[in-house]
Amino acid sequence: MRFDVITLFPEFIDHCARIGVVGRARERGLLDVACWNPRDYAGGNYRRVDERPFGGGPGMLMMIEPLRECLAAARAAAVMPGDTPAPLIHLSPQGEKLTQAMVRKLASQPRLLLLCGRYEGIDERLIEREVDAEVSIGDFVLSGGELAAAVLIDAVGRLQHGALNDEQSAVQDSFEGGLLDCPHYTRSESLGTAGVPDVLLSGDHAAIARWRRQQALGRTWLRRPDLLARTTLCDDDRALLAAFSREWLRAQAVPTSK
Ligand SMILES: C[S@@+](CC[C@H](N)C(=O)[O-])C[C@H]1O[C@@H](n2cnc3c(N)ncnc32)[C@H](O)[C@@H]1O
Repeated sequence: MRFDVITLFPEFIDHCARIGVVGRARERGLLDVACWNPRDYAGGNYRRVDERPFGGGPGMLMMIEPLRECLAAARAAAVMPGDTPAPLIHLSPQGEKLTQAMVRKLASQPRLLLLCGRYEGIDERLIEREVDAEVSIGDFVLSGGELAAAVLIDAVGRLQHGALNDEQSAVQDSFEGGLLDCPHYTRSESLGTAGVPDVLLSGDHAAIARWRRQQALGRTWLRRPDLLARTTLCDDDRALLAAFSREWLRAQAVPTSK
């Protein structure tokens, strides 16, 4: 899969895409990340890329012309005969909120173009004419789209076949299957096995799988009832959750000694 990122800060994207799972996916040839800087397409001695908005008001906007030329160059790069045009995603606080379901869909695309805004954002006419989708990473405002693009590249990149050492780990992650992940424990020299649920030390794989499913159901019930309400549970799941909630309510009722 290939990402082409239109950004005034290519070094930011490049750095993020060099580390961890995404960096490894790049090294394995599963992922390609290219950056395109609108400043390289700006005219004048100062290569200006911002302009005051019509109507006045605070802040500057990214200028249309350098962006449009930069975008055309990015679109034209690495195009093979028969390729369908790659969609352009504008990272924007006004976009559709990024979810794991959206990440899965995006991960099946061969190529994505990502447009990172800066300043007060981008001229609406460029968005109307060029952008295929707007994606937000949450209800807050960043100073630029680069962090959001890096988030999207990470979430999508790790789903590329062969990027994770064990693909099962992605299947068990939060939001896959509509639930949060169960808690995890590992060897600790200082803590030993204190606080580790007995079942995880039992070697009984069926019991461990059942406990993990129950914890995932219980955690989702406690922390994200909205997710649980949208998930179809089988009879077994309902029984596991009922037992979890009974136990949790009982524990809440027991007064704690201070
Ligand atoms: C300071 S923001 C501009 C915000 C814009 N004036 C608004 O209120 O919608 C600059 C850039 O950061 C990026 N950005 C900010 N918050 C974001 C978010 N939650 N998700 C994705 N991108 C975001 C966008 O690319 C945006 O053009």
